[in-house]
Amino acid sequence: MKITDKITWVGKTDWELKKFHGDEFTTINGSSYNSYLIRDKKTVLIDTAWLPYDKEFVSKLKEEIDLNKIDAVIALHGEVDHSGALIELMREMPENTPIYCTANGVKSIKGQYHKDWNFQIVKTGDKLGLGDSDLTFIEAPMLHWPDTMFAYMSKENVLFSSDGFGQHLASEFLYADEVDQDILYAEALKYYANILAPFGMMAIKKINEILDMNLQIDMICPSHGLIWRKDPTQIVKKYLEWANNYQENQITIIYDTMWNDTRKMAEAIAKGIQNKDKEVVIKLLNTAKNDKTDVLTEVFKSKMIVVGSPTVNNGYLHSIAGILEMIKGMKLKNKKAVAFGSYGWSGEAVKQISDYLKNSGFEVINDGFKCLWTPDEKVEKELEKFGEELV
Ligand code: FEO
Repeated sequence: MKITDKITWVGKTDWELKKFHGDEFTTINGSSYNSYLIRDKKTVLIDTAWLPYDKEFVSKLKEEIDLNKIDAVIALHGEVDHSGALIELMREMPENTPIYCTANGVKSIKGQYHKDWNFQIVKTGDKLGLGDSDLTFIEAPMLHWPDTMFAYMSKENVLFSSDGFGQHLASEFLYADEVDQDILYAEALKYYANILAPFGMMAIKKINEILDMNLQIDMICPSHGLIWRKDPTQIVKKYLEWANNYQENQITIIYDTMWNDTRKMAEAIAKGIQNKDKEVVIKLLNTAKNDKTDVLTEVFKSKMIVVGSPTVNNGYLHSIAGILEMIKGMKLKNKKAVAFGSYGWSGEAVKQISDYLKNSGFEVINDGFKCLWTPDEKVEKELEKFGEELV
């Protein structure tokens, strides 16, 4: 699919993808592995596709171009969803075809494929002349791997942004302005929250660095999902917002429960919050029943999280343990938190959860709420009061 006279999308749309990064990220709307073929006086290929599609990718590419005519491959990022077809591709291309990537890109690609290809290491500001246009490389470490770089194509004014500004969203369309905007932005936010959130400060720095270069950007071509063509910097502005300690007027209660006592506590706390503030969005999510990708997205949007588990074997339930570990990894700032839970005997969970949240960068605003056995009407009222006080 042609994007401009000189750029053709030669990627793979993965309609079937439901999980990504193993089972870590749920991709209910599929995804795409965007690869771009640039034909100027020189011909270069930017990125490939995920490993299971390596043969399909190469065979389709051969319908588009004689592989011997490709002068260079650009590997913006070494993760397997973009480098997976390299082995298949390089098997059919002249073996000295240069692969342009960062120094860390060499480490990641060699580490995975154990090949001594003709790597050409580039740094920020290095240019690759293509004829009428050129590609300027911009290292973007930790967005989201140390090896990541962007590339800017002059004349066409296109920024190839690797995972940055992407979405896991399969579509029959190529451009962001052609699809449902609610789904597009929900997927873009989910992508940011689950993959890029820990690197918010670096995202701000990199975006400002690119803005300071005063590049005219007519299009942003990410490695996943739709291409930003109409007002392309709209997603850049959104990233600046999301990276700046983002929060909405939302409180998210996440809990797990054994015999419904902690669930009853969660609902009573929610009632108290609602009594006090009719505007605040309240989400109740049982972490054993809800998708973890969605839970993390809701946590990312929240100004406060309320985390509950009963005490079991002197600790807390495994779905809460798992989600707390994932939340810690997000390195969120400017968020408050509190813990709660029922118990029958020892009752350590609330303090343990509070401590974990403190160590994860949350401002834990009180000692939490412990309920011995099943909350009765009196305790439910106390929980409502607890919820009101959170507001
Ligand atoms: Fe889409 Fe980090 O790979």
